[in-house]
Amino acid sequence: MKSHRIAVLAGDGIGKEVVPAGIDVLKAAAARGGFTLEFTPFPWGCDFYLHNGRMMDADAVDRLMAFDAIYLGAIGDPKVPDHISAGELLLPLRRRLVQYVNLRPVRLLPGIASPLAGRGAADIDIVCVRENSEGEYCGVGGRVHAGTPDELAEQTGIFTRRGIERIARYAFRMAASRPRKLLASATKSNALQHSMMLWDEVVEQVSKEFPEVNYRKYYVDAIAARLVTHPQTLDTILCSNLFGDILTDIGSAISGSLGIAPSGNINPERTTPSMFEPIHGSAPDIAGKGIANPVGAIWAGAMMLDHLGERAAHDRIVSAIGRVFADGRIKTPDLGGSSTTAQVGAAIAQAVTEETRQPA
Ligand code: NAD
Ligand code: IPM
Ligand code: MN
Repeated sequence: MKSHRIAVLAGDGIGKEVVPAGIDVLKAAAARGGFTLEFTPFPWGCDFYLHNGRMMDADAVDRLMAFDAIYLGAIGDPKVPDHISAGELLLPLRRRLVQYVNLRPVRLLPGIASPLAGRGAADIDIVCVRENSEGEYCGVGGRVHAGTPDELAEQTGIFTRRGIERIARYAFRMAASRPRKLLASATKSNALQHSMMLWDEVVEQVSKEFPEVNYRKYYVDAIAARLVTHPQTLDTILCSNLFGDILTDIGSAISGSLGIAPSGNINPERTTPSMFEPIHGSAPDIAGKGIANPVGAIWAGAMMLDHLGERAAHDRIVSAIGRVFADGRIKTPDLGGSSTTAQVGAAIAQAVTEETRQPA
């Protein structure tokens, strides 16, 4: 029987609550799909930092290389500065594991009410392809004259032709594989005349390789508004690291809640393990209450199975989420319900399992 080795980094806050729900669903999908999943937990995160003075072991990247994929919950705790928790675990893993694609589907599932009046499932079906290795997040910069009136901070965005080309190709391939063959590139070349001009030029060049894709660029401020006013006109969105971060929180919110959208930090060449996580954070405001929405984590688990070649299992999980929501009785408070994280996880796991009893 085929087996996949999964490193589990539940992390902090609600990460520790949504990951177990996700694992239950993944196990149900594996049982139905005729494969096994071998989960290996790692304690890295803010608790680990508070005990050991570092976010993860020094050989973390080497150890993670032995796995087929990484399943991550969320990183961040009020007791640890966020630039340390993100900057010494999440962002280095994305960079060092060359996960240069951050793939973020944004879909309004049947049975979920969007905060946008009158919008239904047919109106919001988008996939965001976010550059995940450079750009505004490259970490180049510094501060001098600390604490004096002359203090200055510099944070540089690095955009490379190679980096833009590879993310643009991935996005155009994605757009070409989807029925509408529509690609919107988010830019800001009216103000960022160096980095975003290079972005536009390279995206334009790559677009020539994909004549079947209907490509146009939008300024990022305008596309942020468009997500709210005309989400049905958007299909594949190609964006830089920071723009993608912001646009996908809007995307998840218009799909009902920040707790819904999943993401895959993907190394398309498969030279390293890819990493799957919900787009939300550790939500300290609700952590420990058992009420976090686990759907983003569960859906991220489905994306992980797809990446591992288990497409049918992915489809089974996404359809199970849809059936549980369509039924309408089981929802966490962020969606207006009163169910717990565990109840939603169990209902989706059961929906995955029950499908096995139906004739194929
Ligand atoms: P957040 O996503 O944790 O929370 C924003 C709001 O959305 C909160 O009100 C929260 O309760 C709600 N929310 C988020 N996920 C939810 C879920 N699954 N179910 C119900 N409600 C949910 O963002 P934040 O408050 O800006 O950041 C909190 C911490 O998380 C910080 O330390 C931040 O750096 C970190 N963070 C980590 C990641 C990650 O690990 N990938 C992502 C974003 C933020
Ligand atoms: C996300 C998060 C991270 C990001 C933070 C925690 C650095 O917001 O995964 O969306 O900006 O990429
Ligand atoms: Mn984010």
